[in-house]
Amino acid sequence: MRKRMRTVLAERASVEETQAAPPARWPVAEPFAIGGLEISNRLVQPPLAGIANWAFRRQSRRHGAGLAVSEMIASFGIRYANRKTLGMLTIMPDEHPVGVQIFGADPGAMVEAALAVEAAGADLIDINMGCPVNKICKTGAGAALLADPVAAAHIVEEMVRAVSVPVTVKMRRGLTPSTSAPVETARRFEAAGAAALCLHPRAAAEEYGGTADHRITAEVVAAVGIPVIASGDIATPDDARRVLEDTGCAAIAVGRAALGNPWAFGEILSGVRRPRPELPEVVEEIALFAGDARLAIGDSRATGYMRKFYPWYLAGHDVGSSVLSELLTAPTTDAALSRLRTLAAASAAA
Ligand SMILES: Cc1cc2nc3c(=O)[nH]c(=O)nc-3n(C[C@H](O)[C@H](O)[C@H](O)COP(=O)(O)O)c2cc1C
Repeated sequence: MRKRMRTVLAERASVEETQAAPPARWPVAEPFAIGGLEISNRLVQPPLAGIANWAFRRQSRRHGAGLAVSEMIASFGIRYANRKTLGMLTIMPDEHPVGVQIFGADPGAMVEAALAVEAAGADLIDINMGCPVNKICKTGAGAALLADPVAAAHIVEEMVRAVSVPVTVKMRRGLTPSTSAPVETARRFEAAGAAALCLHPRAAAEEYGGTADHRITAEVVAAVGIPVIASGDIATPDDARRVLEDTGCAAIAVGRAALGNPWAFGEILSGVRRPRPELPEVVEEIALFAGDARLAIGDSRATGYMRKFYPWYLAGHDVGSSVLSELLTAPTTDAALSRLRTLAAASAAA
């Protein structure tokens, strides 16, 4: 994942290209629906663990994503009313439509969690069948569910029966490339009542290596009647167009490319490539986002949370490693913001 993140950042730093006029017809900007849920465009912010709290989702929506989905939330954490887990269920009134993703392997706990998520106001409930991390997979959850598509489809079916909002599945192509059966698995989920699928077409064992093979996405799209959202390596309007055209998918998801670069949503939604904003605008965006993050998770946790973002936001800007290390060791978000504002002022004056 780190290696792929470095590649994304290096590509981002070298982008100079701009495009003057929007394309005549731009499918990303067209609406689509999942079950009865209308979504204003085909650009989705996918679930991102440790990232996609309401502050991040609200930012994604503000920049153009038609739908934002939460970080993955533990069904057992909901069952046992873990305070931190329940905090993750917070949905702000201006976020709708919003999806909440849950993970787990126990059908009873997943149904209870689905009911709690529906009661919390989610417009869509997504099931994590893509997380490759051992801590999750060893409990049978995440991508491990793909080892037994019949049992996984049973979870889908029980959840669909329990709630009235659409239930969707976020899946990888399988556990390993050689054992993957994405088409057969997708058909099972559709038959179990899934309202849409989001496919990241790498196998779990591949983590983030290589490139996402969207020929697999095209096969799944051709095999099912429900909307398929393509996820993986979509960072520019050109990527979006290519994946939409080549696969026939209903929508595209943009994950890593928008980390520290929410403007990626605006670019992809408009179809127009733009240069990265100058440092003062970047710093104002960070400040706005940090304000929401502090409300979402509290001052103390927000300090650590925001540290993940500084290197992402500053990639491609002329910021030395000593400044970055000052930001990463700043004791509070206010201290980091004050350093960032000094930096922005200096760049504006230069
Ligand atoms: C930091 C990070 C956290 C992620 N967390 C989740 C998650 O909680 N649930 C999930 O289904 N996928 C998760 N993913 C996978 C993404 O939703 C997405 O499918 C993947 O990153 C490929 O898309 P991208 O190339 O646009 O990033 C995560 C990815 C990253 C980089």
